Amino acid sequence: MMNDIEEVLFSEEKLKAVVKQLGAQITEDYKDRRLLMVSILKGSVVFMSDLMRSIDIKCEIDFMAVSSYGSGVKSSGTVRILKDLDRDIRGYDVLIVEDILDSGMTLNYLMDLLYARNPNSIRICTLFDKPERRKVDIYPDYKGLEVPDKFIVGYGLDYDEKYRNLPFVGVLKPEVYMKNNKE
Ligand code: IMP
Ligand code: MG
Repeated sequence: MMNDIEEVLFSEEKLKAVVKQLGAQITEDYKDRRLLMVSILKGSVVFMSDLMRSIDIKCEIDFMAVSSYGSGVKSSGTVRILKDLDRDIRGYDVLIVEDILDSGMTLNYLMDLLYARNPNSIRICTLFDKPERRKVDIYPDYKGLEVPDKFIVGYGLDYDEKYRNLPFVGVLKPEVYMKNNKE
């Protein structure tokens, strides 16, 4: 697996420090709130599990799984809900936990959907942000690191469902994509 990595962008130690800082900020901001952390599967599971342990107030967690429709419909930002939340979010201060904010289409759709359910508040916490790629007006309330317009893997992020288990974040070698395209 390591042979497929061209360059390490963020080490395990760096990620740990960034997550710790985000956790401290969220702890401060949500002291008197009813925090519900909502992890978007599957990319955010590694981030979620570290972030929740760096938060020092009572909170609840839940998960959602979504998938974008085929390329034609994707541009409209429509997503399909594969797994919905287990609860009614009225009265909760929802914090969406996402791995990476790219075009912003997925979260834009999700925010509208969750707002309609009348939570007390909704905010977005993303570990990575690719602002250059944004197609809709959406800004994260909390963000870990800005990344260049490169495809990154590791710490939950995948290429073709693999590399999520890398403890650091890196860039794949181009031949990995090319090999897959030939198959
Ligand atoms: P958006 O709707 O374009 O913002 O899609 C964001 C989703 O695309 C993320 O939750 C990831 O699953 C995926 N994604 C975007 N960029 C990358 C990347 O560089 N590596 C891995 N997954 C990515
Ligand atoms: Mg993904």
